Amino acid sequence: MSAENLRIPRHVAIIMDGNGRWARERGLPRSEGHRAGAESVRRVVEACNEFGVHYLTLYAFSTENWQRPKSEVQTLMRLLRQFLEDRSSDLQRHCIRLDVIGEMNRLPAAVQRRLRKVMDETSANTNGVLTLALSYGSRAELVRAARALAAKVSAGDLKVGDIDERRFAAELYTAGLPDPDLVIRTAGEQRLSNFLLWQASYAEFWVTSACWPDFGREHFLDALRDFSRRQRRFGGVADA
Ligand code: FPP
Repeated sequence: MSAENLRIPRHVAIIMDGNGRWARERGLPRSEGHRAGAESVRRVVEACNEFGVHYLTLYAFSTENWQRPKSEVQTLMRLLRQFLEDRSSDLQRHCIRLDVIGEMNRLPAAVQRRLRKVMDETSANTNGVLTLALSYGSRAELVRAARALAAKVSAGDLKVGDIDERRFAAELYTAGLPDPDLVIRTAGEQRLSNFLLWQASYAEFWVTSACWPDFGREHFLDALRDFSRRQRRFGGVADA
């Protein structure tokens, strides 16, 4: 099947897993796995541009990842800063906007500054949206939304009876972002790991045994081909 015949998902979200395993299999330090993983990020952004996937969301650092050894957290933050420095011109060239979901204020100040700079620079770009989930956890996001709604109710700005799915979704980090159509996970695990629990309710799930640093255009194309064959019913009977 050529790329032209594919039904392209509007929003692809990826759980990038297996950097550590990739490194271990090669007798390398984990940091090398993360470094190679950052290169995969570049390839996948290119692939989205090539195939016309408008929204790409990457699970780059979970709230649970703070529990990793300090040196590994530092490596990941350094790679993120480097990525933003090296790749902001690619984002501009492809007219892609950068966005962040998660507890951005927990990130090191230098990373926050760089993120804000690239988000500002790319804010008017309309060809695609790259969203990085950073210090992100879905349960924390849901609690935050519940608190925001409760605060509005207690201030008298909102009636309990007016809370519906639309209003709830508007309090999530992802407000304004369409739900993912396809969630990809690398390195073989078949779970969501606290990623987009609300938003991925009707997403198709695609898992590959390839570790994230090995993931590239061909894997992405395989996922798109598989997605094209899926019948999405959203709980109904016909393809929506
Ligand atoms: C999972 O591998 C991956 C991560 C925890 C972080 C993903 C980070 C990158 C791809 C690099 C930097 C990010 C950007 C956006 C440039 P793991 O360490 O959990 O692998 P393992 O399960 O095999 O140990």
